[in-house]
Amino acid sequence: MKSTRDRLDRYLSRQLNISKREVRQLLLNKKVLVNHVVATDMNLLVHQFAHVKVNDTVVQSLAPIYIMLNKPKGVVSATKDRHHRTVIDLLPSHQHPSLHIAGRLDFNTTGLLLLTNDGSWSRRLSLPQNNIIKKYRVVLEKPVTSDYVDMFEKGIYFAYENITTRPAYLNIISPQVVELNIAEGRYHQVKRMFGYFNNKVLDLHRVSVGGLTLDANLALGESRHLLQEELSLIFSVDD
Ligand code: URA
Repeated sequence: MKSTRDRLDRYLSRQLNISKREVRQLLLNKKVLVNHVVATDMNLLVHQFAHVKVNDTVVQSLAPIYIMLNKPKGVVSATKDRHHRTVIDLLPSHQHPSLHIAGRLDFNTTGLLLLTNDGSWSRRLSLPQNNIIKKYRVVLEKPVTSDYVDMFEKGIYFAYENITTRPAYLNIISPQVVELNIAEGRYHQVKRMFGYFNNKVLDLHRVSVGGLTLDANLALGESRHLLQEELSLIFSVDD
């Protein structure tokens, strides 16, 4: 993913299509404002959401966007698709530009999907060391036994990646309905974990990501902006 910071001289040279020498002249003449403060240091790092003005013209003014969507079935977790509706198609049109998905869900998986234009936030969410737990409600074809609980905690070997999954925690709600807590987000991870027991996933729903639970007031297909407190809540430890 592209860096979300750039050095001021490089940034202005690219944005304004001018030489670094011309940039230095602008800085010397105090014509550049970053976050409403005169900038003179060409090494200053410009964040993707910094407000930048040159010669009284706004060059950049982008607000960070964080959205939760209750993803329905039959929609692709992508920004473009030639054949199917995408999660972007479900959002109010003014929210489209530059959004990306923080943690995809399969075509027929429902529940909490996060979208943002903030690359450093989505990167933090995906870093293994941040141990962000994703909770899924899973409906299975066959009853689940206590063997699953032990195996999931020990880890399941995925031959394709040659890895063993990190400890995952299973809470059996009824013979064919469970809640699964996993810290990873590998391709078809939940289905493949149950696939180890030849047990088909009939229904998969993401309930929460870290400390953030899907808003029960959102119907399938509906979305809303995250609240300020939810932005940090997501990184708080889940049990
Ligand atoms: N695991 C899966 O198999 N599918 C999803 O959509 C999410 C996790």
